[in-house]
Parts: sequence; C-alpha cells; structure tokens
Amino acid sequence: MCGIIGYTGTNDGAFDVLMTGLAGLEYRGYDSAGIAIADPTLSVHKREGEVAALESAVPADGLGGQTGIGHTRWSTHGPPSDANAHPHTDCSGSIAVVHNGIIENYQSLRERLEADGHTFESDTDTEVIPHLIEAAIDTGATREEAFRQAISQLEGSYAVATVFEDDETIYAARNESPLVLGIGDEGHYLASDVPAFIEYTDRVVYLEDEQFARINPSGIVVTDATGAVVDTAVETIDWDPEDAGKSGYDHYMFKEINEQPAAIRKCLRERVVELDQRISIEELADLECQGPVQFVACGTSYHAALYGARLFQEAGIQAQCFLASEYDVETIPVTGETLVVAVTQSGETADTMSALRSANRIGANTLAVTNVVGSSAARESDHVLYIRAGPEIGVAATKTFASQQVALAMFACTLSGDASAEFIRQLRALPDQLQQVLDESNARAVADAYVDAEAYFFIGRGYNHPVALEGALKLKEISYKHAEGFAAGELKHGPLALVSEKTPVFALVTGSDISKTLGNIKEVEARNAPVVAITDAPSQVEQYVDHVLEVPSAGPQLTPILANVQLQLVSYWIANRLGRSIDKPRNLAKSVTVE
Ligand code: BG6
Repeated sequence: MCGIIGYTGTNDGAFDVLMTGLAGLEYRGYDSAGIAIADPTLSVHKREGEVAALESAVPADGLGGQTGIGHTRWSTHGPPSDANAHPHTDCSGSIAVVHNGIIENYQSLRERLEADGHTFESDTDTEVIPHLIEAAIDTGATREEAFRQAISQLEGSYAVATVFEDDETIYAARNESPLVLGIGDEGHYLASDVPAFIEYTDRVVYLEDEQFARINPSGIVVTDATGAVVDTAVETIDWDPEDAGKSGYDHYMFKEINEQPAAIRKCLRERVVELDQRISIEELADLECQGPVQFVACGTSYHAALYGARLFQEAGIQAQCFLASEYDVETIPVTGETLVVAVTQSGETADTMSALRSANRIGANTLAVTNVVGSSAARESDHVLYIRAGPEIGVAATKTFASQQVALAMFACTLSGDASAEFIRQLRALPDQLQQVLDESNARAVADAYVDAEAYFFIGRGYNHPVALEGALKLKEISYKHAEGFAAGELKHGPLALVSEKTPVFALVTGSDISKTLGNIKEVEARNAPVVAITDAPSQVEQYVDHVLEVPSAGPQLTPILANVQLQLVSYWIANRLGRSIDKPRNLAKSVTVE
C-alpha cells in the first residue's frame, strides 16, 4: 500500500502540506516519494528512497503553488526507482497522477496506448492513467469528462488523484483503496489516511467505493459513477496527530491485527479465479518443481513455513522445513532439482538471506515468499511470491503471518494442480470470517483472567501445531512472559511435568478429528491446569475447559488461521494489561539484518 496526499487552497501552501502529509504517511510505504505542484506550470519532483530523499531534491526554500498532489510508495509493479516513483505524467507533462492500489488490466491498456503512439517512462501499472486522460482530451472531452472516462476503464483497486497544468482543481476517485477528504478554512485536502492532514483539519469526508471528488479552493463536490452529486456526511476526528498515525488504534500491532481481512483480500486478488474455479499466481507462472521442496525461515515466518511444508506434504510433494540459521547445504542434500523457499516478510533477515545464498551457490531453484518488493530476498531468488500484506510496522508480525499462510496454501494448490471448488470457496470466505472473529472475540476477558499466570502452554495437532508455536512466540515477544508451544501429542513425553494450576494451557481444537486433542486436554485438566480452547466446535469441547474462544469453520487447512487471530488478541491484551511497549518490544527488531 502507498500513501497519497493532495491540497488546493487560496494560499501558496501546497508544498508544506504535501511534505508534511508524506511524512505522516510513510508507515504506508517508504521506498520512493514524489510531488506535483501546479503553479500554474506543472512541476514534478520524485526520488527513490524515503521522504527525506525527496526533501533534499527540492529547492531549500520549497516551492510555490496553491494546488498539488504527493505520494509515498510501497512498490507492487516495478522496483523502487526515480522513474517508478509517483506522480506519473502524460506525454505532454501537463497531467500528473498519483495512485494507491493495483490496476489488474494495465497491461492491455498500455499495449493499446503504446499502439496509439503514447510513450511510457516506467514499469508501473499506474502510468496508464495520465495517458488515458490525455487520449480522452485529444478526442475533445473536458478535463472532468476525460478523468471519468479514464477511471471507467480501470479494473482493480485504486485511489487516484490528478492535477492539470494551469488548474487549481484536483480530480479524485476510489475503489477499494482508502481515500479521505479534509475540509479546511483556506483550502481542502485529500489523503489515503487522516494522519496526513490531521494537523490542518479534523473535518473529514470518507469517499466511498466508485465515488469521484472534484476539489478546488472554493469547495468539494462528490459524485457517484453516473455523475450525480452525492450528499456526504462531514465527520469530526477526535484524535491528536500522533495517534492518528495508528488510525485511532492504540498500537500499530492492534491496527495490523485488525487489518487481516483486508490483507487477505489483497493476497487473494488476481490469484483466485472464481470464474473457472482455479488458482493462478502470475509471478510463478514459469516456476517448475520436480524435486523436493525445502523451506528456510526465522521467527514467525518459520511457523508459516512449517504450515506450508505440511500443505505440500498433504498435496503429495516432498517438503521439509528448516530454521534458516540451521540450514547447512554441506550436510543437507540439496541439488539443482531442489526448490528452496525462503519465507521472509521483510526480505532482509540475514539468517534467511544466507540460507538462500547458499542454496543459490549450490544451484538449487530458489523462491522468496515475501512482503517487500525490491527486497534482497526478492532480488536474489529465481522466483518471488508476494504476500501483499502492506507495510507492517509493529515489530511482532501479525497480518503477515496470515498472508504467508494463505499465499503458501495457494502455492501448494498451483504446484499440485489440485484446488477443489470447496477449498476455493473456503479461501474466498476467509476475509469475512476473519472479520467475524475480530468482531466477536472475547479474548480480552481471557487475557484478564490469566494475566498473572506463571507460564503459558499452547498445544495443537496437524495444521494447529505451527499455530501453537506462533501463539507462544507472540506472547513471549510482546509480554515478556514465559510461553511454550507443543505438538499436543508431545506433552505427555516430558513437558507435562511443567503443567500446574499456575500454567494455563491454550488448546487448539479445530477440524474433524478433535478426539485426540480432547484427550490431551483431559491430561492437563487432571493436573488442575486452567484450559482455554480455541475451537470451531464449542458444543463438543466446552464441558472440558475453563474458557472457549470460538472461531467459524473454514476447513482443516484454514481454520487454524482464524484460531491464530484469537491467540494474537490474547497476547495483545495481556501485554497491554502489563503496560508493555507493544510496537517496539525490548531487544527485538522488525528485521534482523545480522546473523
Ligand atoms: C524478527 C521479527 O526480527 O524476525 C519477527 O521480530 C520475524 O517478527 C522474524 O518473524 C523474521 O522476519 P522476516 O522478515 O524474515 O519474516
């Protein structure tokens, strides 16, 4: 996801508003940034790197001009570079566009425009928009008509803002990507999120899907897809600028836990083709895999890789999972037939990178499953599978874990060529089910009940085993409490000695065969340990446990993803009760770039 900002006013303040806005949006993407200001000549400045790099590229005393747009980028199409940075312009340089989202049909639009003589400067999907507007104007359309005609040809998600040379009007539109308008005294604003202009105004209008906005210093007009004017509600934001960065959430981690439905929708987009009930991952179209699969990863990504390996084994593909720091090609059989899959949200974790590099040296086929376009893992692998979760700022990974699991599930289906209609239905239902868990969870009450426990144990079988490990890791990372995850069947072979009335046990009990895990629950119950069941079958479990955290059923592979959200929430509320620094836990870092 990227960040968009726009301003038009009666004063020469556009430059300051844009630069302040971009700084407030940087958590949304920070691999390149740019602005375009109509003064009235259109001037465009853009640079690879953080907003600070753009600041040093513009005149020290800033730029004049009443009307402008800005963008901070999180690459999806085309690696970070000056050319791929937004704004993008048309052939004449008199139309500038910034965009957040993914245009699915950009390739065919680009081919048509190039055939009509338009020249392109970047690899981005976005650049088709200014050229589409230019083409419409060439046929005699007004600027507003041309903007609407261009938008009507786009498929996919977009929040778009456009300025023209010699014009104080900003034209904007949205579909699935957020866009909010700000009503000021001397001017008006638009942005991907409120933090970008909260210091100027707290009066906002949220643009809905398929709505358009025409913004100029005298006012804002919102219209629907037919062009009819829409009455909009002006809301007042009661946040201070610092908090707004978290969109009203107390912590980035809590915000990211709540972003999981949207993140999974993005991960599924373009890849689950409902029409003919199949899964196709464009970026893996040319990946062939005859030999064994070896996953390498660290931390939360290692748990996602364990989950992935099980999916592959179940699909009949030989698969193993290694802690990246333990992956040694001198002792592990790796050949040119082997597919080595590096699972890493940041794409920069040193342990994972060195495992990947050793696999490359041996001549193995390599794939990075990552969240960061242009990251080292993406650049150094033969193939890349993007999980598209958007920037994750909280050090403890949350939404990227769910996105990794869904991406690996789709990958397993494409490799085995076996995606049942039922599994596709379950995948498509997952975002709404995630939202249901977030809306109905009683995890906070469970956290309050056990905040003072001595230690915590998490147990699960099958696909729930990696989730049990992840539940323990999350609690450790942000609460600093001792926690351990086990394969449920392993408990009686030692760890049961640690279990007592002071150690609550979180048992993941989902899917068809819950009898064995129920047996493990009775083992710990017999030692007076409090038991919390995370289950999609409460009626079969509640009589044996102290608390139930319910999840909807989503099939054996996907229900554990829902169950994990309950564990994230329990960890969050325990750490919150203990007053921990949840977004920046002690001793940890978002991406460890040293071995
Ligand atoms: C740690 C993070 O530094 O690295 C964890 O704190 C993360 O949250 C782990 O899971 C692996 O990171 P990545 O980027 O390789 O997935």
